[in-house]
Amino acid sequence: MTIAIQLAYLIASILFILGIKYMNKTKDARRGNILSAVGMMIAILATLVQIESVTFVEIIVCILLGSAIGLYYAYKVEMTKIPEMVALFNGFGGLASFSVALSEYFLKSGIDLPEIDGIASTSIILSVLIGGVTFTGSMIAFLKLNGSISGSPITFKGQHPLNLLLLIAFMVASVFAYMNQSDPTFMIILMVISLLLGILTVIPIGGADMPVVISLLNSYSGMAACATGFILNNNVLIVAGSLVGASGIILTQIMCKAMNRSLTNVLLGGFGQAVTSAQQDGPEIVVKEVGVEEAAMLFDSASSVIVVPGYGMAVAQAQHVIRELMEQCEKRNIDFKFAIHPVAGRMPGHMNVLLAEANISYDKLIEMDSINDEFPNTDLVFIVGANDVVNPAARTNPQSPIFGMPILNADKARTVIVSKRSMGKGYAGVENELFGYPNCLMLFGDAKQTITKVVSEMKDMS
Ligand code: TAP
Repeated sequence: MTIAIQLAYLIASILFILGIKYMNKTKDARRGNILSAVGMMIAILATLVQIESVTFVEIIVCILLGSAIGLYYAYKVEMTKIPEMVALFNGFGGLASFSVALSEYFLKSGIDLPEIDGIASTSIILSVLIGGVTFTGSMIAFLKLNGSISGSPITFKGQHPLNLLLLIAFMVASVFAYMNQSDPTFMIILMVISLLLGILTVIPIGGADMPVVISLLNSYSGMAACATGFILNNNVLIVAGSLVGASGIILTQIMCKAMNRSLTNVLLGGFGQAVTSAQQDGPEIVVKEVGVEEAAMLFDSASSVIVVPGYGMAVAQAQHVIRELMEQCEKRNIDFKFAIHPVAGRMPGHMNVLLAEANISYDKLIEMDSINDEFPNTDLVFIVGANDVVNPAARTNPQSPIFGMPILNADKARTVIVSKRSMGKGYAGVENELFGYPNCLMLFGDAKQTITKVVSEMKDMS
C-alpha cells in the first residue's frame, strides 16, 4: 500500500512538472492545465486512502462543497477580476498552511504527548510565518485590487524598523515556542506577528507595483505549502509547494525586470513611495480629439500600424473588433502588429490571452524589448485602453511612482491615436502627458463601440 501511494505521488509530481512545462507556451497551456489537474486528482485520491481520523463521506461532502464553490466562481468571474481571484487563492493557500501548522502544534504540544522534533517544529514555525504573511498580505492585495482600499502606498514613519523589529521578535519567540511546547503563549505571539507582518509589508506598496506583489505572494503560498509538506511528511505537498514557490520566484523576477525594481527592494517591502499628486502631475494637459471618420482615414493611409492594448481593452472586450480592424488593415497591405507590455492589463499574459481568444496569431504579438525600436518608424500607433504602460512620466518624472518602469515607446511614432472613455488615469493613478503631445489624438468612447464604428467606416471606404 505504501509503495502504491508513493508511486501515485511520484506520478502526480511528474504531471505537475509536465503541466508547468506545457504552460510555457500559450498554445499548449490548456493541455498543461489538464495534466496538472489530473496530477492533483491523483494526489488527492492517494492522500484520501490514508486518512483515518475522518470518514470517507465527510471528505466527499467537503470535496463536493469546495468544488461547487470553485466552479461557481470560476464560471462567474470576469476576466478583469482574475487578479483579485488569484490574490484570494494565494491567501487561502497561505491560510491552509497556517492552519495545518497550528493544528499540528496544538494537537501535539500537550504535556502528555511526545515533543515535536526539530524538523517538524522548524517547519511549523516556517509555515506559521510564511502562511500568516501570505494570508493577510494577499487579503490586503485583494482589497487594493478591487478598490476597497486605496491603491496608493500607505506609509508611516518607522515602517521599516517596525517590520525588522517584528521579524526579530518572531525569531526570539520561535526559540521560546520550541523550548516550551506545553505553553501555547509563544505560538499565539508567533501567529499575531506573522499576520501583522503580512499587512505591514503589503500596505506600503503602490498600485503600479501590484504585479510584483501578487507573484511574490504566489511564491510565498508555495513555500508555505512546502513547509507544511515537511510537517505532514507528505512528499507530494513538498514537491507541489516547491514548484509553486520556485515558479513564483521566477515570475517575480520577470515582473521585477518589467517594472525595473530590484528583488531585494521588493523583499524588504515598501516600494513605490507616496508622492503628492502635485509632485506627480505636470501642467494641465490640453488634448486634440479625433472622430471615427478621421481615425478611419488615418488607418487607411498608414503603411504601418502598431496596436498597444491595455486594461481598457479587457474592460471593453474589444479584442474581437480589433481583429476586424486588423483584417481591414491587412486587406490594404498595411503592416499590422501588437506591442505587448509585460504588465499591461491586470495579470501576466492578460493581453496575450485576450488576443488569442480573438484568434489573432501569436506571431503578431511582439514583446516590448523586441518592438520598442520600431516605434519611430511607425506611421500610426493605436493605443487601446492602455495608459500606465505608455506613460512617458516613467522616463521623465523622477517624482512619479512609475518612474523607472520600462514603457512602450508609443509616443515616438509619427501619429498616435488613443482609444479611451475619458481623461481617466491608469492603475497607478498618474496623469499621462502623452495625451497632450502634438502627435497624439484622442478617440474618446468605449473602445469596442468606437472601434466598431472605425471598422465600419473603413468597410465603407473600400
Ligand atoms: P491602465 O494604466 O490601468 O489604464 C487603463 C485605461 O483603460 C484607463 O486609463 C481607462 O481610461 C481605460 N479604459 C477603461 N475602460 C475602458 C473602456 N471600456 N474603453 C476604453 N478604455 C477604457 O492599464 P495598462 O496601461 O494596461 O497598465 C496596467 C497597470 O496595471 C499598470 O500600472 C500595472 O502595473 C498594473 N497592474 C498590472 C498587473 C499585471 S500582472 N498585468 C497586475 C496588477 C496591476 P478611461 O477611464 O478614461 O476610459
